[in-house]
Formats: sequence, structure tokens, C-alpha cells
Amino acid sequence: MSLAIIGGTGLTALEGLEITRREVVRTPFGEPSTPLIHGRFRGYDVTFLARHGYGHNIPPHQVNYRANIWALRHVGVQQVLAVAAVGGITEAYGPRKIAIPDQIIDYTHSRTMTFFEQDVGPVTHIDFTYPYDAELRAWLLRAAAEAGVEAVDGGTYGATQGPRLETAAEIQRMRRDGCDLVGMTGMPEAALAREAELPYAHCAVVANWAAGIEDGGTVSMEEIREHLTYGMESVRKIIASLAPRVTA
Ligand code: HPA
Repeated sequence: MSLAIIGGTGLTALEGLEITRREVVRTPFGEPSTPLIHGRFRGYDVTFLARHGYGHNIPPHQVNYRANIWALRHVGVQQVLAVAAVGGITEAYGPRKIAIPDQIIDYTHSRTMTFFEQDVGPVTHIDFTYPYDAELRAWLLRAAAEAGVEAVDGGTYGATQGPRLETAAEIQRMRRDGCDLVGMTGMPEAALAREAELPYAHCAVVANWAAGIEDGGTVSMEEIREHLTYGMESVRKIIASLAPRVTA
């Protein structure tokens, strides 16, 4: 069992996944968002996990990120592809674009963000200079090219606390900080994957211009839904050409 996909908003199931087994994993940190779905996708082993639950009922700040990553590690997956909707901040990251970010700025707070707690062992500091796995990113970009999907290579992902969207001023601050994308679920997920020594990369689907970016405009939920439906089709194509590479 090698490739795990954590699906976000707009990807609560992986079409074309022939499910072989559902596995309830109990972890020292509680329950993952859903049982793990093991299956065959285009002839390869894939494990799928819906980050927000099947009914999309777990908000970003209440996702049990530790249980999710721990469970994936426990069942022996070797790579994690995280799919998530984002807002676009800079020009290259408009709605419907797919981006494979290469950096993170974490604005989240009050989330449990480490496996390394008192009584678990010695204090451990992971290296997180480059938060995403370079090889998995490269595979993703190649898979996108082969699938005929244009994917932006790189970009800085700003992780916000949610569940509310940002103010225009917060987005302007994030832009000054160097953020290209904004989302609510990228952290602590990426850091926990690094702690668990799981190669992790992020396939970001731009669902909207972030607050105030487009002529100072607000964010429309209707627009988000429309762009996401389109963007997730592109993601499915990328996953289809990625699977053989990572699970061969
Ligand atoms: N902000 C934060 N998270 C998001 C957005 C946004 O504009 N769009 C989709 N997820």
C-alpha cells in the first residue's frame, strides 16, 4: 500500500477507485476523519481519506490531523498527496488553476500541531526548510503535464485558521508576506507528515480570488463551488497519471 490521497472539499470520494477494504484505525490521538478506504485505482494500490469526513462535516480547525497522519503511517502508506481548495492571491494563481506549492507560512493557531509531546520521548525538532517532498512534487508536475493539465510549479501557501474566510486586510498582509495561495488545512498536516517521515506534497485547486483581490470584491460561495467542480476534474486526471509512478 503506497500512495495515500487526502481529499479535501470537492474530493470526498475518488471516482474510479475500486474499493477493496474499509479500515477503521484507532490511534493514540483519537479517530481519523473517516475509516481508511483501500482500493485499486487504475490497477494500483491507493488509500483514500476524506479530510472533512464523508458528509463534509468536520471544519478545518477541527480536523484531527494527528489521527489522520498517524493512521496513514500505521497502515504503511509511503507517500501522501494532499488535495485541497485554496484562494488565489497573486496573478498566476487565478480560479481553476492547479498549483503545486513549494513553501508554507503558517498563520493557524490553537491546533495540536505535533506528535512530539511531553512524555512521548526526547524533544525532537524536524527540519522543515522545504516543507514538501521534492520528488513527489516533481512526479505531480510530470503527471500533470502528461495529463494535459497546466499546473503552476511552486508558490507559497498561507495556512489560515478558518473556518471564516479572511478579511481584505489579512489577505493584503499575506501578499506582503509572500503568500500566493491561502487555505485552511495545509497546516499542521504537512508538518505532521514530516514528523511521521512521510513524503508529502500538496495539489492545490484554486477555487476563488482571495478576499478583496479582485477589485476589492467579496468571495462568493457559488463561485467557489463552480470553480472547484472544474478544478477537481483536473485533479482526477493528474492522479490518474500519477498513480503508476508512485505505486509501481
Ligand atoms: N481562503 C481560505 N481558504 C480557502 C479559500 C480562501 O479564500 N478558498 C478556498 N479555501
